[in-house]
Amino acid sequence: MSLMKDQLGTMEDIVALAKRRGFVYQGSEIYGGLAGTFDYGPLGVALKKNIENLWWKRFVLDRDDMYAIDASILMNARVWEATGHVATFADPLVDDLKTKKRFRADHLLEEHGVDSKKMSIDEMSQAIQEKGIKSPDGNQLSKVKQFNMMFSTKAGAAEDSSAVVYLRPETAQGIFVNFKNIIDSFHPKLPFGIGQVGKSFRNEITPGNFTFRLRELMQMEVEYFIRPETWEDEFEKWLSTIKQFLVEDVGLHSDHLHEYEHSDAERSFYSKKTIDIEFDYPFGKKELYGLAYRTNYDLTKHSAFSGVDLSYYDEEIKERFIPHVIEPAVGLDRTVLAALCDAYTEDVMGGEKRVYLKLSKNIAPVRVAVFPLLKNKPELVSKAREVFLSIKKTIPNIMFDDNGNIGKRYRRQDEIGTPHCVTIDFDTLLDDTVTLRDRDTGNQERIRVIDLHSKLI
Ligand code: GAP
Repeated sequence: MSLMKDQLGTMEDIVALAKRRGFVYQGSEIYGGLAGTFDYGPLGVALKKNIENLWWKRFVLDRDDMYAIDASILMNARVWEATGHVATFADPLVDDLKTKKRFRADHLLEEHGVDSKKMSIDEMSQAIQEKGIKSPDGNQLSKVKQFNMMFSTKAGAAEDSSAVVYLRPETAQGIFVNFKNIIDSFHPKLPFGIGQVGKSFRNEITPGNFTFRLRELMQMEVEYFIRPETWEDEFEKWLSTIKQFLVEDVGLHSDHLHEYEHSDAERSFYSKKTIDIEFDYPFGKKELYGLAYRTNYDLTKHSAFSGVDLSYYDEEIKERFIPHVIEPAVGLDRTVLAALCDAYTEDVMGGEKRVYLKLSKNIAPVRVAVFPLLKNKPELVSKAREVFLSIKKTIPNIMFDDNGNIGKRYRRQDEIGTPHCVTIDFDTLLDDTVTLRDRDTGNQERIRVIDLHSKLI
């Protein structure tokens, strides 16, 4: 039946469906948009929340070694001085000398086959000159400069530089600055972790590829505190947890996921090992999930800059030290995008081209839709309402639909990824059976209303 088995749709297809069916809209759209910002519509909110809840369940709730935190987006500027973000959280940038548009120098070099990962700013400028690389608009480029990606603003009425604060570029630091609070309140034994889901802000030079590279994004991060000698073991355990989350919870195809280990030159200087889980987006294989062994860099820096002792006394081995940390970190928006790209499918059903989202039932915004066969037959509508309300008690994300003919309703539900549709017809009134239709195969089976629930769960 499937014409394009396992083939991803194009980005145009996915963006158009996301807008048409109320998943994702351009931010500030009626004013021409704001680059790097997107708004989630009703179905996007549902999809995003389902994924966030699954993450929260696997990484925090289901474990007895995890603590939750919800830290402020605005943090004391000293936090970012301590971590080195003020000095080095920067991307290499070039200006188009004519249009003044800005581009990522490393991306332009990559497009011209130059691997700039190990290059200094000056070497990048030289490579651009030697290769005669022009801007995408065909104009001369400036020298490469570093551009700090943190958004800053001012707190309170003071206008001097002491009022400058940054919107956090990662949720991770909200965890590190609360390390001592968690120790003092809960006295956890190593290893233990702190998890957080929240907004981060990055002034990306070239946001793009829909919700892949955003200026305002949601992150889901864990900092897992360990004794240093256990790092390899803990790293492997988190790697398999990440894969379980992406494959078993989100439902991504495992053959669309790839491990990429950072080379010495690519890794942040404080990291001893970093593995990205990449996903086959329609625009290429790109980072989805990051796993890093960050040593004890962050806590050591915060201890030094704040003057607060962030060491930990390990009762078991009778030693005081600054714990090391394993960090699984992912963008929620990127995960939603991967789920949409992975699910987008076209086939032919009943002689017609069909577009549908093959979303896992764990994350589908609507788990099941209930229809009366005809909307002008009150007895069918009231029976359909009765069935709808009984399922809704245990499956809250259920939709009632009596608009248009039954074929159109199936198509609409297929397009938003609803795994099952239940139709109430005249036979239902006689024998309390309904038609249960499967999204992927289009197969329909007749089942008793009392068996519906166990079939759907
Ligand atoms: N605390 C570590 C950290 O923030 P990162 O690799 O910079 O590491 C973690 O970010 C994850 O956040 C990435 O793997 C990606 O999924 C997501 N992410 C980062 N920048 C993003 C952006 N501009 N737009 C959307 N998601 C982004």
